[in-house]
Amino acid sequence: SGSHQISGFGDFGYGDSTDFGLSSSKLLIKGGTVVNAHHKEVADVYIEDGIIASIRSNIKVSDDVTVIDATGKYVMPGGIDPHTHLAMEFMGSETIDDFFSGQAAALAGGTTMHIDFVLPVNGNLTAGFEKYLRKAKNSCMDYGFHMAITKWDENVSKEMEIMVRDKGINSFKFFMAYKGSFMVNDELLLQGFERCKALGALAMVHAENGDGVAAGQKRMIDLGITGPEGHALSRPPVLEGEATARAIRLARFVNSPLYVVHVMSIDAMEEIAKAQKEGQRVIGEPVVSGLILNDSWLWHPDFTIAAMYVMSPPIRKSGHDKALQAALSTGVLQLVGTDHCTFNMEQKSLGLEDFRKIPNGVNGMEERMPLVWDTMVESGQISVTDFVRITSTECARVFNIYPRKGAILVGSDADIIILNPNATFEITKDSHHSRTDTNVYEGRKGKGKIEVTISRGKVVWENGKLKVEAGAGRYIKMPPFSYVFDGIEKADSAYLSSLHAPVHRHRAST
Ligand code: URP
Ligand code: ZN
Ligand code: ZN
Ligand code: ZN
Repeated sequence: SGSHQISGFGDFGYGDSTDFGLSSSKLLIKGGTVVNAHHKEVADVYIEDGIIASIRSNIKVSDDVTVIDATGKYVMPGGIDPHTHLAMEFMGSETIDDFFSGQAAALAGGTTMHIDFVLPVNGNLTAGFEKYLRKAKNSCMDYGFHMAITKWDENVSKEMEIMVRDKGINSFKFFMAYKGSFMVNDELLLQGFERCKALGALAMVHAENGDGVAAGQKRMIDLGITGPEGHALSRPPVLEGEATARAIRLARFVNSPLYVVHVMSIDAMEEIAKAQKEGQRVIGEPVVSGLILNDSWLWHPDFTIAAMYVMSPPIRKSGHDKALQAALSTGVLQLVGTDHCTFNMEQKSLGLEDFRKIPNGVNGMEERMPLVWDTMVESGQISVTDFVRITSTECARVFNIYPRKGAILVGSDADIIILNPNATFEITKDSHHSRTDTNVYEGRKGKGKIEVTISRGKVVWENGKLKVEAGAGRYIKMPPFSYVFDGIEKADSAYLSSLHAPVHRHRAST
């Protein structure tokens, strides 16, 4: 549309500069189709000092500006992965990808920001936060934090406020599974949801009935089923559906928004759809493994292959995958994560004799963008603009960092990818950038190749080569009260005034 300027946003602090001076890092992306969550058009994008400075056609620049030709390709906001576990101590092991290797892999796959889960140290949130900041020191891309709440007392409640007010955390995860370690009960869920709501922080749940899982595991062991298939058999979809429904109803009871992480089954997805139909604010996050894999791998005769696919909630039978894709395309589920939580063959073999000891988790940070493109856009299920919404923009909105992230607008961070819809990708452990020695997507080919990744104005991935720098990534503080909270207090006051309506009461006359 000619010289139409893709509009910026009022007071974000950066104008459209036409006088491109002699500042340090300058980059021009020419001739591509610039895609945002609700609009796309052919335009040039000019970047200066890590920020998008101008978006329009035929931008002229001097010789000192690096020019990238994107003709025939899509220029999109870098992906934001809402769900990762880097350098996490879990199930007697520590994930093999730390912040540097996991992020390098992500950048090679077109993801330019992720939100990782901080685990408290002995229930102490501040200690957990400090520990994760140290872990993240070698970051090569921007990142934010969610935090898990694993116990409840006065101090946890107080620290939640510190995390939100001073530390840039605006979401807390409650585990309804992992009995004996992270699992919380309904009393804690209620207290936690109320506290989250008061702070404007999003309550997130890992929804599986942990008592049911423990019983299911015992049932399998008693039957002599000790292999990875026992993982799927011990924690069927009914347990995920139950916990999802319970969390949704408790969130309704306290009128707090709810975010359900790693939605893996039709059972859970349908509970979310039902609640949304009744007007409740529930956000559902599918992960790549749940969208495109099925549980047949868990029956593979080779333990090292089967064990790769052990994650929780489990990857489900064929059929759940397609249903989750449909839910994503219709908006019942809103954004895609990975739950990237990698353990190598040696670590996975901790559970050789007993599936309960296999460290849970799969890879995905590098594969998410191309796989979602191939599965959702290439198959015709969603539009190119929808792709941007579910891989980037909606995550930025829900966690309140839009439009700094999740958009190609004047003033936004220059986190940008160039995707070639006509080029193909192939996934293998030999060429991936994660430190793990297996890949749950081994051998997959598809269309939609991430050819260039730009992180805060720097080209970090081009011609199949990574140019990343440890320490270049920044911690992104996420403020509370995202759009998900808009109007929540109105519903509260409506409820309160309904309680004060006079009751006309009398004795039954005989
Ligand atoms: O198997 C998984 N999902 N590992 C990571 C921890 C979690 O529950 O998200
Ligand atoms: Zn989880
Ligand atoms: Zn997770
Ligand atoms: Zn009466």
